[in-house]
Amino acid sequence: MMIHIPNVLTAAEVARCREVMEKAAWVDGRVTAGHQSAQVKFNLQLPEAAAEARELSDMVHDALGLSSLFMSAVLPKQVFPPLFNRYDAGMTFGAHVDNAIRVGNGARVRTDVSSTLFISGPEDYDGGELVVQDTYGEHTVKLPAGDMIVYPATSLHNVTPITRGSRIASFFWTQSMIRDESKRSLLFDMDMAIIKLGRDHPDHASNVELTAVYHNLLRQWAEL
Ligand code: NI
Repeated sequence: MMIHIPNVLTAAEVARCREVMEKAAWVDGRVTAGHQSAQVKFNLQLPEAAAEARELSDMVHDALGLSSLFMSAVLPKQVFPPLFNRYDAGMTFGAHVDNAIRVGNGARVRTDVSSTLFISGPEDYDGGELVVQDTYGEHTVKLPAGDMIVYPATSLHNVTPITRGSRIASFFWTQSMIRDESKRSLLFDMDMAIIKLGRDHPDHASNVELTAVYHNLLRQWAEL
């Protein structure tokens, strides 16, 4: 299940990211790559410990807390502090699966869900599509600045080569309270249906019943 979450960052927050990043010192992205992915990864990253990265990472983290769609889709237990990468012309990231466990910045998470938050807009670069493979085939993603895609971290994925401009994004992983992707997906679908029912038929008795079922399933399945 891939979910597009619009407007995670405001235009002002995106502008602040770009302003900080223009002055930042970028390093080879292979610093956070595993053995297999290091062989196909050609991009730049902000060093995790740099003051600029911390400021922007906190900004993204706070924005996630305000996104009801992110909360519903991911049911986060712990978010790994968001990182930032940049692909200039000629850079690319070949097919890989993200490492199962991430340790750093005081966090240790099992990577259940991967997220990419676009800081550059589609007009800023050519190429640079995120391509995610799942059982239904390949999905190609390129979103407006401030928008985010979330997808199961079990998915094979790649970033196609940049042919013009620069593509800047924030990326991070989340350990979900619901480890099983199919259960997480069911809960999300149910939550969305309950919201629609409440909006269209606010007085219907099933609002209470279905909300109870949602919470009782969450209670059965959640790992805290
Ligand atoms: Ni990846």
